[in-house]
Amino acid sequence: MTFNHDNKQFNIRRYPKSENRSLRPWSAADEHVLKYLKKLDIEADTLALYNDRFGLLSCVLNKFDPTTVLDYKSQEKACRMNLDTNKLKTSADRMVTSLTPIPHVVQTAVIKIPKSLDLFRLQLHQLHPHIRAKSTVICSFMTRNFSSNMLAIAEEFYADVQQTQAWKKSRLLILKKKTAVKKAPILNSLKWKEDILLQQYFGVFSAENIDYASQFLMDHIKLEDTDKRILDLGSGNGILAVAMRAQKKDCDIHLLDDSFLAVESSRLNLTDKKTHFHFNDSLDEFADNSFDLIVSNPPFHFEYENNIEVALSLFKQAERCLKNGGRLQVVANQHLNYKTHLRKLFKKVIDIAQNEKYVIYECKNL
Ligand SMILES: C[S@@+](CC[C@H](N)C(=O)[O-])C[C@H]1O[C@@H](n2cnc3c(N)ncnc32)[C@H](O)[C@@H]1O
Repeated sequence: MTFNHDNKQFNIRRYPKSENRSLRPWSAADEHVLKYLKKLDIEADTLALYNDRFGLLSCVLNKFDPTTVLDYKSQEKACRMNLDTNKLKTSADRMVTSLTPIPHVVQTAVIKIPKSLDLFRLQLHQLHPHIRAKSTVICSFMTRNFSSNMLAIAEEFYADVQQTQAWKKSRLLILKKKTAVKKAPILNSLKWKEDILLQQYFGVFSAENIDYASQFLMDHIKLEDTDKRILDLGSGNGILAVAMRAQKKDCDIHLLDDSFLAVESSRLNLTDKKTHFHFNDSLDEFADNSFDLIVSNPPFHFEYENNIEVALSLFKQAERCLKNGGRLQVVANQHLNYKTHLRKLFKKVIDIAQNEKYVIYECKNL
């Protein structure tokens, strides 16, 4: 899609691609930020961008040499794709994650407030040491997504928090005058059964409790002697892998997640040498016919969008990576009706368990 700004045209696309043509690679909240930034005197080398999901702001503001904070592999791929398409360059140190220090002081930061307000808090916390006394942090959101917790979190870090008028159903929070914040925790602890304590960074899926769908799946996972190489697909804090490791010590377990903070969390929860971590949004790095078992509680949200396209793409890739006779076990909300889609990919799809809310499918190609 073409985006016009200051008499320049930018060609911006979504990654991953969506069949839903009403989904755009930017929102009015991004346009609102650009309109507001025109009032500011931005110094080159002092701009930081958070949650720029498809890279619109990284492209339009490229002349200021911004640092883009990338927390998802798919976000990194989208930003690189759109920078390349628009023949724009950025240096490697200008792409960091929320856990990596920003390589310069920050005079202006732009944060598109993520759906996870825990992640918003983590990002403000991590940004804080780089902020100057006179810096401005511009936080954008669509008004329908407003929560008073956004203000409360912003006020933990800034003495002056102002909300703008709505424009095209979006608003900005303007944060100034940073407060003296002590180093605060950025990890939650979660108890599982009597004896397992999991850690996860703020913003990683299911911070309050182990997800109920995952609990249901764990009650039914039974590893077989032939399960030598296993993949936990969309692994989050690694709970499914932890449960599998408790059953079998001598298999190789691979964990893959699109979220950097999820992968870093799972590294804290599994430390043996036969567990391997992959920060990726696709299975491209794995050979065909290479896993005996793939287990997944797949995503069905993309920020505020309900979206099963990512899950369907992961199922297709899982089919390629399973050995002949290998199994894919998926837990899902009944209403998602994945069976219809799985039957197009696998010869055999059975329900191995269900309750009033969830179903576990086992898919095989033999
Ligand atoms: C429903 S959560 C399950 C997390 C974890 N397995 C659990 O049970 O708590 C889905 C996970 O999929 C991840 N995810 C989303 N898109 C992905 C993709 N394209 N590739 C890999 N992981 C993805 C999310 O970051 C999230 O951690």
